[in-house]
Amino acid sequence: MVIVPETPNHRDRIRALLLGAFPSAAEADLVERLHADSDAVISLIALRDEQVIGQAMFSRMIAPFKALALAPVAVALPWRRQRVASRLIENGLQRARDSGWEGVFVLGDPAFYHCFGFRAGLARPFSSPYAGPHLMALALKGGALPILSGQIRHAAAFSAMG
Ligand SMILES: CC(C)(COP(=O)(O)OP(=O)(O)OC[C@H]1O[C@@H](n2cnc3c(N)ncnc32)[C@H](O)[C@@H]1OP(=O)(O)O)[C@@H](O)C(=O)NCCC(=O)NCCS
Repeated sequence: MVIVPETPNHRDRIRALLLGAFPSAAEADLVERLHADSDAVISLIALRDEQVIGQAMFSRMIAPFKALALAPVAVALPWRRQRVASRLIENGLQRARDSGWEGVFVLGDPAFYHCFGFRAGLARPFSSPYAGPHLMALALKGGALPILSGQIRHAAAFSAMG
């Protein structure tokens, strides 16, 4: 298995993966809209024999520092619990760090994202429509976010999810 940036050739396979991984088309539509709006910054796929078995998307957001939003993350059912998502996320975080991004916000299950270093406590001082125990943040440089509070706003595609 290899972790690589997606290309337009992978889009149909990514959509099929997301439709299979989530109960509705919302996440598949989200990814398409992020691309259409040019808000997709790092989109990685896990490829095995040309089959897309996983995907992780990091998108542009408005924040008081250089921040990305991680969502969605998905792995095809037969390949779960084999660290595919971990490799996608760790690879994406490294690419973000290397490109000068300072932090990442994620909305999800704290039990899952905690192991990558995401903390709800770091996100709590930021105001967002998604504020709450499921909104977490991770500092990419020096262990601390450069600014500790303020307003954050996800890309427009997220509000279209309803
Ligand atoms: C959540 C999901 C992406 C995990 O993918 P995965 O490749 O199975 O995850 P990994 O094997 O890398 O697991 C990483 C760690 O998280 C844990 N973990 C995996 N799935 C988990 C879950 N659903 N809840 C809590 N912890 C989970 C694993 O035990 C593992 O910990 P370990 O390394 O200490 O054993 C996958 O189950 C999925 O696609 N689910 C449906 C879509 C979804 O809910 N996406 C997340 C929200 S955007």
